[in-house]
Amino acid sequence: MERTLIIIKPDAVQRGLIGEIITRFERRGLRIVGMKFMRIDRALAEKHYAEHKGKSFYESLLDYITSAPVVVMVLEGPNAVQIARNTIGATKPVEAAAGSIRGDFGLETGRNLVHGSDSLASSQREIALFFAAEELISWTRDVDRWILEKVE
Ligand code: RTP
Ligand code: MG
Repeated sequence: MERTLIIIKPDAVQRGLIGEIITRFERRGLRIVGMKFMRIDRALAEKHYAEHKGKSFYESLLDYITSAPVVVMVLEGPNAVQIARNTIGATKPVEAAAGSIRGDFGLETGRNLVHGSDSLASSQREIALFFAAEELISWTRDVDRWILEKVE
């Protein structure tokens, strides 16, 4: 089982797409283990996107992610990191497959709707930035045996 950090970014929240986006992850079969509605402040945004410091888009990326409220979620499942990235689609909406979130709702890279961790190491670092351990709920769903080959 893996966990991954998802952010429904300010543009998606402003456009009323919270429900649509959560539905896509739920439908995929991923299990929500943590969720909050919040405004990301500058300091947290700098930590979250530290790998991009110094790049041309860094300042505008910080402006974007701090511009309005977001929904932050932790999702769980086998290969959750890569499965969530596939559901989200390529970074640039012009390259995102139709059927992915960015491919269905996005036009520009700086308004690409959703964040998903890019590796297991990133997911662990990012989850710790946004959630205290007690905010993450370990649970099983009655339907899990119809989604997972083996329910732990
Ligand atoms: P994210 O971290 O937000 O899930 O996106 P990602 O992994 O698909 O892409 P990443 O390379 O981590 O870039 C983070 C965010 O920075 C903005 N960006 N702009 N103008 C550009 O060339 C450019 N490149 C990246 C996007 O908002 C991207 O999601
Ligand atoms: Mg990234």
